[in-house]
Amino acid sequence: MADGTASLSLGGNAHDFPVRSGSVGPDVIDIRKLYAQTGAFTYDPGFTSTAACESAITYIDGDAGILLHRGYPIDQLAEKSTFMEVSYLLLNGELPTGEELAKFTYTISRHTMLHEQLATFLRGFRRDAHPMAVMCGIVGALSAFYHDSTDITDPKQRMIASHRLIAKMPTIAAMAYKYTIGQPFMYPQNNLTYTGNFLRMTFGVPAEPYEVNPVVEQAMRTIFILHADHEQNASTSTVRLAGSSGANPFACIAAGIACLWGPAHGGANEAALNMLREIGRPERIPEFIARAKDKDDPFRLMGFGHRVYKNYDPRAKVMQKIAEQVLKELGVNDPVFDVARELEHIALNDEYFIEKKLYPNVDFYSGVVLSAIGFPTSMFTALFALARTVGWVAQWNEMISDPEQKIGRPRQLYTGANQRDYVAVGER
Ligand code: SDX
Repeated sequence: MADGTASLSLGGNAHDFPVRSGSVGPDVIDIRKLYAQTGAFTYDPGFTSTAACESAITYIDGDAGILLHRGYPIDQLAEKSTFMEVSYLLLNGELPTGEELAKFTYTISRHTMLHEQLATFLRGFRRDAHPMAVMCGIVGALSAFYHDSTDITDPKQRMIASHRLIAKMPTIAAMAYKYTIGQPFMYPQNNLTYTGNFLRMTFGVPAEPYEVNPVVEQAMRTIFILHADHEQNASTSTVRLAGSSGANPFACIAAGIACLWGPAHGGANEAALNMLREIGRPERIPEFIARAKDKDDPFRLMGFGHRVYKNYDPRAKVMQKIAEQVLKELGVNDPVFDVARELEHIALNDEYFIEKKLYPNVDFYSGVVLSAIGFPTSMFTALFALARTVGWVAQWNEMISDPEQKIGRPRQLYTGANQRDYVAVGER
């Protein structure tokens, strides 16, 4: 429903385009007819001013530092909800009743096992393979094992594939970790919670029972909630673009994992902890702040800055609190946490960061917590992918059911050679 028009004058001609308003947030100028009417494209590398779709799942107000999932603020969900409940909310749009939640949790728990042949497939990797390489490979390979949930035109098959992906990511991530340390894979125990099951598959061994630490379980559950979805970020847009061609859901999520791996995106949690370790002690912070400000130095403060948040990332606030709780509970005194807090304090009082509105993002403190729990830095992005799978799946389902969706096919500003004739090699 157009709520007004935007006029564009190009080459002496005026062109009107409908303006649409969402339930909250910036209006959009519907330029779908721009090329047909004007013969010109818009130009927006990085899509800084482009809405690629309509969505009702997640809303971010970057200036106010607000993040809502189906209208519910992230700090309330982090404090009061569970990852299964947030998963149901993202997929279905409403918080579940007790009965709906029990049924959903039961369904997910019945899909936690992997086809045994995939364990053989996983053993084909080198032991030092990065867990994200394993996640990309195994998740992509799921389409070779679960043919009965790859027909994207069948809503039932889409839902089974969605449940399988959410349920199997913890199993795959735990197996990727076990494989690097040469320990046997642990099978899921469905009497445990989603998060407890993951902790046992990761840190448990067949030789003895594994007691889930409730403080660690709650911290992991909250970390999964904080990472569940985040509007049209790079990896979600990758999943949507892959899905727009009709690719099967396993292939689409594998594409999302590949995109998340980059250090500018989900790989920042691994890069941020490596950076904090390299800084080592508060006295070295000024040297790194100077490098981050130096135009000729490609170094950036990892875990800082965000395309949308020009205020504090609300997830980073919760993550800092979790870091304090977990380090205290586990009696871990990691100097890296002190470096992180001092670095935050210095950066937030530095003209450069204030002027460019650079604040800590979700990746700044997550590594401190995950390291204290016992994960190697190489697992950090795999954990991000585990949690983000429900967001990717919810966005993928929304895209498939959107009557306006069509295959994504951007155009370009061509700056290459004009047409010219071939010249034989002897005449060049
Ligand atoms: C995630 O999109 C999402 O929602 C992502 C995410 C999600 O949940 O899906 O939130 C998860 O990816 C969080 C971001 C994790 N990445 C990092 O922490 C890596 C470090 N941050 C930067 O690379 C950067 O801030 C980005 C990539 C996150 C955002 O980059 P933008 O929006 O493209 O901004 P930009 O690169 O144009 O930066 C604006 C200015 C630049 O200076 P000028 O060229 O204008 O002079 O700020 C500077 C940048 O040089 N800048 C930084 C900086 N980030 C931006 N300077 C120093 N350190 C930094 N971290």
